Amino acid sequence: MADIIDGRRRADELLDRVTDETARLSAAGTTPGLAVVLVGEDPASQVYVASKSKKAKACGFHSVQHTLDADTSEADLLALIEALNADAAIHGILVQLPLPGHIDSGRVTQAVAPDKDVDGFHFVNVGKLATGETKTAFVPCTPAGSMLLLEGVRGADLSGLNAVVIGRSNIVGKPMASLLLAANATVTIAHSRTRELAAVARTADILVAAVGRPQMVARDWVKPGATVIDVGINRIAAPEKGPGKTRLVGDVAFDEVKDVAGAITPVPGGVGPMTIAMLMANTLTSAARAAGREPPAL
Ligand code: GUN
Repeated sequence: MADIIDGRRRADELLDRVTDETARLSAAGTTPGLAVVLVGEDPASQVYVASKSKKAKACGFHSVQHTLDADTSEADLLALIEALNADAAIHGILVQLPLPGHIDSGRVTQAVAPDKDVDGFHFVNVGKLATGETKTAFVPCTPAGSMLLLEGVRGADLSGLNAVVIGRSNIVGKPMASLLLAANATVTIAHSRTRELAAVARTADILVAAVGRPQMVARDWVKPGATVIDVGINRIAAPEKGPGKTRLVGDVAFDEVKDVAGAITPVPGGVGPMTIAMLMANTLTSAARAAGREPPAL
């Protein structure tokens, strides 16, 4: 039976540190400011955005939420981002994805000032991460949070370990691979076109599932003793809870994989809470930099 990695506890520890350091920075005259922008009414996005704004307040941040209609024009959204870029009270800008189809997400992502890009999606931050400039980059929150959980199990140096990341998204798969490589792991990125995916996954001492397919990673995909990080958040029907009920599951078939893995993150309660905590950490880091201070070690 694997160790169940407690993401909620680790996230709470990080948020406590962020809250303490925020009080210190505020007392010195700079209160971290986070602006979260939501376009449209996607129910999952509404939940995520509300929870980000709420956590920002709980940390003592200046927290601003902009909720725009689904038919907002790209020009209006870009104008809002320009205004936030120029606003000295704002240190972090997050535009919740996905955006409605008529808006070019790439253009919007690249419009956020790199030094306020707490999502780590701007090319400047992507390039810094890819070239190992992690001291000054903003690293995307989900992979950064996943690495903290992994560090708790395997330590910071992954020399000699095989890591397999399933999924090649810009938000998770690619930055996760960069972070694993920076930690000296031997890294494979697998995806939907990979041949013998289960066999590739079985080579992993560290297996990261970020595909968005409910419970895809089965028991026989996992090397005994492997550390399994499940990034998936999928809502599926749960008739056992009653008609019309749903529940959240990851990309890993938790109930069977937990018997073979050495350690595993649950869903919910694993990577999810870490993503939000890392967003707060990135915003505090941004505010400290803006104030000309060394960002606190978190
Ligand atoms: N949608 C799903 N994950 C994310 C994320 O990490 N950042 C943003 N901005 N939108 C998302």
